[in-house]
Amino acid sequence: MRVRVFATAESLGRALALEVARRLAAKPDTVLGLPTGRTPIPLYRELVRLHLAGRADFGRAATFNLDEFLGVVTLDPRSYRAFMQRHLFDHINLSPRRIQFLNGATRDVERECRRYERAIARAGGIDLQILGLGMNGHIGFNEPARALVARTHRTRLTPATRRANATLFENRASAVPREALSMGMATIFHARQIVLLATGATKARCVQRMMAGPVTPRLPASFLQLHRNVEVWVDRGAAGNLEL
Ligand code: GLP
Repeated sequence: MRVRVFATAESLGRALALEVARRLAAKPDTVLGLPTGRTPIPLYRELVRLHLAGRADFGRAATFNLDEFLGVVTLDPRSYRAFMQRHLFDHINLSPRRIQFLNGATRDVERECRRYERAIARAGGIDLQILGLGMNGHIGFNEPARALVARTHRTRLTPATRRANATLFENRASAVPREALSMGMATIFHARQIVLLATGATKARCVQRMMAGPVTPRLPASFLQLHRNVEVWVDRGAAGNLEL
């Protein structure tokens, strides 16, 4: 796995935003896979800035987000969809028709998951999948387990993950939904390129296990060792345990 280390989370965000803008210029109909969480916020801030400066055009791009809470409607300010609107979509020229999201308020989960898989296939697959890293090694909402699910599915969140998401729910972990919808490991792995982001010293141990430890469903991100085109972008804090 190729690693790139940046001085700060901000410089990492700036570099990746430039890379995304460069790709959009080379291939305007680029399909992006996007994460939520604190980690991509500097990236989204910088993409907005580049767009406002006329340097990032999303006019023909399409996006697929990784996951959404189950039972949370799109318009709920606590939804991941609302998070993306606030941090990115409201500020760029991405057509709402080309923003794809799992509908957490669906009445038919199976059907919704199938719809998402089909939509990704119809878009021609994901060109660049950007990932965050959960403290317990999850990607999307693929939580550590005895076995991982291949395709988009309904998933139960661990107490640690609910705690990590509490900021969206007035800092009350108990208010975080117990379940979510998430792209599966195969959905993620079909992306032509993957960039995983991790910042801050609290992620250092997880980054080390992901890159140097065994490939195990107990640390879903470790499967990234098997992808042929993956890069890990970290700041100095998250790189703290790596021998570089
Ligand atoms: C959530 C999301 C993940 C994300 C992770 C890390 O649980 N479902 O997709 O990568 O949090 O979040 P943060 O970037 O805030 O550490």
